[in-house]
Amino acid sequence: MSILDEGKALAQGMVQGAMGKAVALAPDSWIPGGVPDPLIRRQHGHVGAPVSRIDGPLKVSGAAPFAAEFPMADMVYAAIAYSNIARGRISELDVGAAEAAPGVVLVMTHRNAPRLKPTPLFMSDPKAAGGDSVPVLQDDRIYWNGQPIAIVLADTQEQADHAKSLIRATFEAAPAATDLDAAKANGTSPSQFMGGPMHDAVGDAEAALAKAAVTVDSVYTTPGHNHNPIELHAVTLAWDGDTLRIHDAQQAVAHSAWTLAQVFDLPAEQVVITSPFVGGGFGSKTLWQHQIIAAAAARVAGRPVRLVLTREGVYRTVGGRSPTEQRLALGATEDGRLTALIHTGVTAKTAHNAMPEPFILPTRSAYAAETMLLDVQHVELDMISNTFMRAPGEAVGTFALECAMDELAEQLGLDPVEFRLRNEPDKDPLTGLPFSSREIAKAWRDGAERFGWSRRNPVPGRVRDGEWLVGVGCATGTYPYYRMPGGAARITLSRDGAVQVDIAAHEMGMGTATAQTQVIADRLGLSLEQVRFTYGDSTLPGLVLAGGSQQTASIGASVIAAYNKLVAELLSLAGNDSPLAGLKPDEIGSRDGGLCKLDDPERHESYASILGRAQRDAVSVEAEPPMPLETQHWSMHSHAAMFCEVRVNAVTGEPRVSRFLGSFDCGRILNPKTAASQFRGGIIMGLGLALMEETQFDPRNGRIVNASLAEYHVPVHMDVPEIEVIWTDIPDPHAPMGARGVGEIGITGTGAAVANAIYNATGKRVRSLPITLDKLL
Ligand code: MOS
Repeated sequence: MSILDEGKALAQGMVQGAMGKAVALAPDSWIPGGVPDPLIRRQHGHVGAPVSRIDGPLKVSGAAPFAAEFPMADMVYAAIAYSNIARGRISELDVGAAEAAPGVVLVMTHRNAPRLKPTPLFMSDPKAAGGDSVPVLQDDRIYWNGQPIAIVLADTQEQADHAKSLIRATFEAAPAATDLDAAKANGTSPSQFMGGPMHDAVGDAEAALAKAAVTVDSVYTTPGHNHNPIELHAVTLAWDGDTLRIHDAQQAVAHSAWTLAQVFDLPAEQVVITSPFVGGGFGSKTLWQHQIIAAAAARVAGRPVRLVLTREGVYRTVGGRSPTEQRLALGATEDGRLTALIHTGVTAKTAHNAMPEPFILPTRSAYAAETMLLDVQHVELDMISNTFMRAPGEAVGTFALECAMDELAEQLGLDPVEFRLRNEPDKDPLTGLPFSSREIAKAWRDGAERFGWSRRNPVPGRVRDGEWLVGVGCATGTYPYYRMPGGAARITLSRDGAVQVDIAAHEMGMGTATAQTQVIADRLGLSLEQVRFTYGDSTLPGLVLAGGSQQTASIGASVIAAYNKLVAELLSLAGNDSPLAGLKPDEIGSRDGGLCKLDDPERHESYASILGRAQRDAVSVEAEPPMPLETQHWSMHSHAAMFCEVRVNAVTGEPRVSRFLGSFDCGRILNPKTAASQFRGGIIMGLGLALMEETQFDPRNGRIVNASLAEYHVPVHMDVPEIEVIWTDIPDPHAPMGARGVGEIGITGTGAAVANAIYNATGKRVRSLPITLDKLL
């Protein structure tokens, strides 16, 4: 982060701090969500129904276009060459043989790349999406091992790949910081996340710990992780005069278009990104160097370009999760009340990004501890910028917190579920805010019942099935409700009753298009067939990130705002001859293809009738929702209770997860089918975090050495047991549609549930992820 960025983020944090107090004290009715969304009460039947994906047929028939599949006339294919030192300069770069190779159209390096402006770093501006702020092919300097140094364009992919292999680069290495332990020895720095300090204190936690009757105090470590969405990061793009048109794999179309416009010094409307289908994002599908390099090369060559990163290329170009070392210390009374909760530690980032893994986030609202001390420190390493990866913070923070809770429960002789329930807070432990809705106790009880938790043998190592040791474990999962500023929606209603809703949102496979079609249909009282939801295009309204598990809330609030405007407009068009005459917008709802009085649905007029009388073919409105003040007025979080059964081979140490149940409390579930997939997908990623995923980062040279799916292990079908998911389905009265996020919570708590089950099976407490068989022998 530059000093300027840091100042800006700090200023934002301070404004939030001052405003936060006023918002906390304001009457509920002044706050978005203060009056529950009418859709929570009225049930048309679309919301809550297990509707199959509306884009399913397109996908299975191959008709859903992904970024690397858009055809463009006269297009060339691209390959990228990477540095192999962590820091220094390029001393020689011989591209002669590559230029002379068959089919080659362009070899572009820092010597012939166009001059570009710096990339606005994610969070340095509300619209910024850059993963790093390093100059892109602007000079000979190297900032990380794997940094792109050249791009080759050729008539075929094979020609581009071959020519790239002919590039000869030599480097002049400078001293680099690539060893976390060595960097730590030089001191650590306090961290910030989203403009707020990663430090909280209530009372004197160290003193309380020293006095506590029962304590645990351990260090937990988690490795770096790399992003591996099935769809490789890819762009197909072209310059149309001075307008850049990009088909990209994106979870932030509007942010990335704006950011590219800054880099190419263009008016914002001259970069257009479409991204109708994305094969997984998980935090990685934002703006990295590859889109910028491809666009610059297309400009120089005067040809459309397709660039699909190789799997190795994703490891070199796209950041992942950085490693953590977390101290988790708990103190409790003899009867199991927490008196001290300390969660501190160190992570790594780079000088050119702003993403210290915020592992204390889940701990902030977890338990009613008398004293708390939470702190994230970081060191800076010369490596690829780390970034968001599914539940950044919570995924690895819950591993430390929830393993420590298990360890303390055993010392107390308490059942781990009972221990957690005993420390359930009645308000947010740090802010004192009321919870918007917290039904975690129900999630625990329902989950325990369903899983058969009462059959657990609390003594480790006692249950055996042949050469397999069997154990069960549990952990809490949690993820905040967010709604980021910048949402907007356009609703166009036609006289035939069809509606089109336009939002610059994203479908990364989670079911956005399906769930939002259900919500819009219910909101307007229409059938699913009458709704067309268009998204995945930066020219549509809204600055909507598919991240932070907040896209549904952002879209939901945007649609509410546009709907309210639509109702006002329709009421004025309806005039005095309508059954609705004299009603105010807030008395109005929708049913059966028209408007009605909320508490007297018989007073109704169809859209067709209103528009017909007004001699209008269509009405179109666009609106933005209010600022997301609800998150400063209530403490809002999704919750989960995770249960795991493992079998560990007594001879080989091999751990296998044999059963998993996630019991979720995420407010109202809009579509049980797509939500269940989200929950299961998160849990599967959590199983990978627990048992397999590990970026092997060579501290000698800063090189990621396992940059392939052959060497970086993720769960495959044989690694994943039947995963049962259940949920409370209790609406959050303060969230749009009553729904909190479901995208990231599945990966939270899962690592600890597996580790706790392994302890129960074997008596071995492994505090370092991944829990591979060598740690169990
Ligand atoms: Mo998620 S890590 O916010 O895409």
